[in-house]
Amino acid sequence: MNGGRSTVAESQAQSQAQPQAQAQAEATPPAEAAPPAIETFGLTRRFGSLVAVDNLTLSVRAGSIFGLLGPNGAGKSTTIKMLTTLLPPSEGSARVAGCDVVREAREVRRRIGYVPQLLSADGALTGYENLLIFAKLYGVPRAEREERIWQALELMGLKEAAHMLVRQYSGGMIRRLEIAQAVLHRPSVLFMDEPTVGLDPVARRAVWEHVRELRRRSGVTVLITTHYMEEADELCDEVAIVHLGRVAAVGTPTALKAAVGPEASLDDVFVHYTGSSIETGGSFRDALRTRRTVRRLG
Ligand SMILES: Nc1ncnc2c1ncn2[C@@H]1O[C@H](COP(=O)(O)OP(=O)(O)OP(=O)(O)O)[C@@H](O)[C@H]1O
Ligand SMILES: [Mg+2]
Repeated sequence: MNGGRSTVAESQAQSQAQPQAQAQAEATPPAEAAPPAIETFGLTRRFGSLVAVDNLTLSVRAGSIFGLLGPNGAGKSTTIKMLTTLLPPSEGSARVAGCDVVREAREVRRRIGYVPQLLSADGALTGYENLLIFAKLYGVPRAEREERIWQALELMGLKEAAHMLVRQYSGGMIRRLEIAQAVLHRPSVLFMDEPTVGLDPVARRAVWEHVRELRRRSGVTVLITTHYMEEADELCDEVAIVHLGRVAAVGTPTALKAAVGPEASLDDVFVHYTGSSIETGGSFRDALRTRRTVRRLG
């Protein structure tokens, strides 16, 4: 469902997103005292007889970077779609940025940013032009647009490339532009579905660094999905290992590894809790398709 981006953006535009406190990090009380940025209670989604997300109960600390780690078909995108109000849950409930994803869907959309799994930037436009479209969609007031766009470009390391056509960007630059698009309206929670799939290790690392800097400066809570163990290990404060729609384990990467053994890697943790390697789950067709899209634009 790569068309999801416009649904969120349009709704956000309709509701005229109000500036969220950008310097939330300074304003918020210590993390322990702040309510969770995301909470799910028995969240479930079925497609016919298939249970794609099965009774998911999670809590994501405000200001943290949280990873949903699982193989293809584990239910990561379906979870993100429910949390971003794009897909109604079959059962259970979830709160995002203090609002219920079903009863207060509009409010949720105003408070979140979303980087979908498939590419969404327009290759025929420049980075600046892509951002301008999103600034309008998100209802950023005209007087603030320029400043917000240049801030976002600077934050994602794209100032020099602002007036280049996006089809000349590398895959990593496109992903960073999409993150810039998703934070123009200063969301308090940012969802990113496989933000680094198909990127080489250097480009992947650059995305991580920019995401960390974004979190440091804005205090935004970040939920990412990934099937890269290394990404979860290095970038995420906490990780939920998802397998066949269920959470097999949750914790900090350090705690999860320590619980399995002194030398354990996150790979070992995955095998320990699911009985299989992450490589064996699902099909890699979707990931390959995403990768090809990245290369085509790269
Ligand atoms: N709209 C749909 N209709 C029917 N089945 C679906 C639909 N969307 C997802 N599924 C199925 O639900 C399961 C979970 O899919 P989902 O896309 O959430 O997995 P994922 O963890 O994001 O995988 P990937 O790493 O491939 O993106 C899969 O078996 C998928 O085929
Ligand atoms: Mg997915």
